[in-house]
Amino acid sequence: MTIENKLNTQKITSEESYACWLQYRKITDPTLVEKLTSSLSNLIVLDQSERLTAAIDELTTAIQSMLEVKPVTLTELGEENGVVLATEESLKLNNIELEYDVSELTVEGYVIKSAHNNIYLIGKTDKGVLYAAFHLLRLVQGNEPLTNLNIIEQPKNRLRMINQWDNMDGSIERGYAGKSIFFEENKITSNLARIKDYARLLSSVGINSVSINNVNVFEVPTRLITEEFLPEVKNVADIFRSYGITTFLSINYASPIQIGHLHTADPLAPEVQEFWKDVANEIYKYVPDFGGFIVKADSEHRPGPFTYDRDHAEGANVLAKALKPHGGIVIWRCFVYNCLQDWRDRTTDRARAAYDNFKPLDGKFLDNVILQVKNGPMDFQVREAVSPLLGAMPNTNQVLEFQVTQEYTGQQKDLCYLVPLWKEVFDFDTHARGEGTTIKKITEGSVFDYSHSGVAAVSNIGNDENWTGNTLAQANFYGYGRLIWNPDLSAEEIALEWIEATFGNDPKVVETVSKMLLQSWEIYENYTTPLGIGWMVNPNHHYGVNVDGYEYSVWGTYHFADLNGLGVDRTVATGTGYTNQYFSPNSEMYESLETCPDDLLLFFHHVPYTHQLKTGKTVIQHFYNTHFEGVEQVEGLIESWIKLEGKIDKIRFANVLERLQLQLINAKEWRDQFNTYFFRKSGIADEKNRKIY
Ligand code: GCU
Repeated sequence: MTIENKLNTQKITSEESYACWLQYRKITDPTLVEKLTSSLSNLIVLDQSERLTAAIDELTTAIQSMLEVKPVTLTELGEENGVVLATEESLKLNNIELEYDVSELTVEGYVIKSAHNNIYLIGKTDKGVLYAAFHLLRLVQGNEPLTNLNIIEQPKNRLRMINQWDNMDGSIERGYAGKSIFFEENKITSNLARIKDYARLLSSVGINSVSINNVNVFEVPTRLITEEFLPEVKNVADIFRSYGITTFLSINYASPIQIGHLHTADPLAPEVQEFWKDVANEIYKYVPDFGGFIVKADSEHRPGPFTYDRDHAEGANVLAKALKPHGGIVIWRCFVYNCLQDWRDRTTDRARAAYDNFKPLDGKFLDNVILQVKNGPMDFQVREAVSPLLGAMPNTNQVLEFQVTQEYTGQQKDLCYLVPLWKEVFDFDTHARGEGTTIKKITEGSVFDYSHSGVAAVSNIGNDENWTGNTLAQANFYGYGRLIWNPDLSAEEIALEWIEATFGNDPKVVETVSKMLLQSWEIYENYTTPLGIGWMVNPNHHYGVNVDGYEYSVWGTYHFADLNGLGVDRTVATGTGYTNQYFSPNSEMYESLETCPDDLLLFFHHVPYTHQLKTGKTVIQHFYNTHFEGVEQVEGLIESWIKLEGKIDKIRFANVLERLQLQLINAKEWRDQFNTYFFRKSGIADEKNRKIY
């Protein structure tokens, strides 16, 4: 039996698993209960809207669950004190004067303020009020005192999106937590209650956009944009809207042929332009605030404008024109490369592809097109360089793409908390406009005059009771939302918030889980592919070790290992020239063996096994060390977790333990196959004489 089949499929049913970080556990300290009850038993809501209703519902559920009192909802300020929910406008209408300034806030910003014995949740709009309500509940769950509050918040990124890779047959591409919550048997689900709970989870961490179907759009989902499915898309979009979330759909570029019965999908053909206009008009009848289309075109066998000798700008603009009158946008993915590339030909390089394809088109896209660029130029590896395309197109809107689902990082069996990885990406200095042009500034839209920018990511949820398969993978879902709201939050802070809301405030639990999460990326990298080499996973499903595993043909490898050394030479001097895609001084830093950081060494250079790293170790010895250490570290994770028995409910305890045990099997397989492979290739023994199988 392979590891991937060993997972216990027994249904996990526990309220804690399902509620994730919105558990609102009962507070037991009587003094605290008394204090909180006096602040939270009245909810005074000064305007009416779906989002304010959502905020009141959430506060009511939470307060009832934590304090066992049902708060009273009032619609005007009177004798009673409590939590006041109001937009800026309604404060003015009610002549309430508070000292704060919201003039600088964006439409999603908010203020939480203690005044006149009330706690005011004031939004620029009702969306801000909803976010403020979730913030207040976070404070309560984190045991923060609710006195003298004076918080001003707004998201740093405008577009904060989650991409579902859900197929209409109910499967999920790269999904590791069961089936789709959106689709079953080629229909949209009738379980709208679960979608509502998903909307609550998303909104609680500030995510404001969702695309509900896979970027690979096959036969049936191509019809999602037609009258056949739009009434149901509307139902889903209505739910998301009340949580401040805009709905998008992925489309198939060949739709004009497939559903329009035209003979072409050429973006410059007038009948194709008419087709897309009609489609847009139809969609907006059902979903008036529809976000727009997400498009994977001319990539991995998906149709696109190349068929008609048109470039990506021409391809995207036809859609953008159709959506423009309605305020919609086109999110065009830059994951475009020749997947049939012959890697024996060392002049081609998949890492170069996005930049080579898109950089020359800068300025040619309409202003309601956004290019979505994966964080690395390859494909969500455990470590790869930051994509040089980010920041390289000053005249074209860009959005950064992360992957929350753990395709290459353990598939929610192995623990891998990804927030530290994402933070490294955000903090990377592109030097696009001189020193300090970090990725986070680019996505925040403060470097270039972008009309749209932000972050998107592939979701990690499915219909497993706990949403993410591995309970600890909920931390990635939570962390993604919190981090893109504010990329300056630390990985530690985010972990702490998540743990307290998920498992409570027991110091032992908090400390242990936090340590486990924060070490986990490094551990995963240790027993898999250190020094930036990447891949070596089983083709297609991408789990487990397969050093020579290569997707598209029998002769390729991603690592170019031979008897003397390994790594991909991406230098200008002797390799693919990829280093040149970076701004100076990054290009020089990566080009030179002396200055290239060790953790990306093999991403940029082909070196002998005896090459000495900055630690003084050789590459081969580093390989042996990290692989032995990685396994020991996973054993350590298991020991740490076992010590929490009794402190965490049985179901979640068992769920994580089971995954950690699978992780150990995986780590050992990696260690053994990897070390054996490189021992045989290099003929160099481990200096510590450990057993290599
Ligand atoms: C990877 C992944 C595919 C996915 C693709 C994409 O290649 O393995 O499943 O379709 O990325 O981002 O479009």
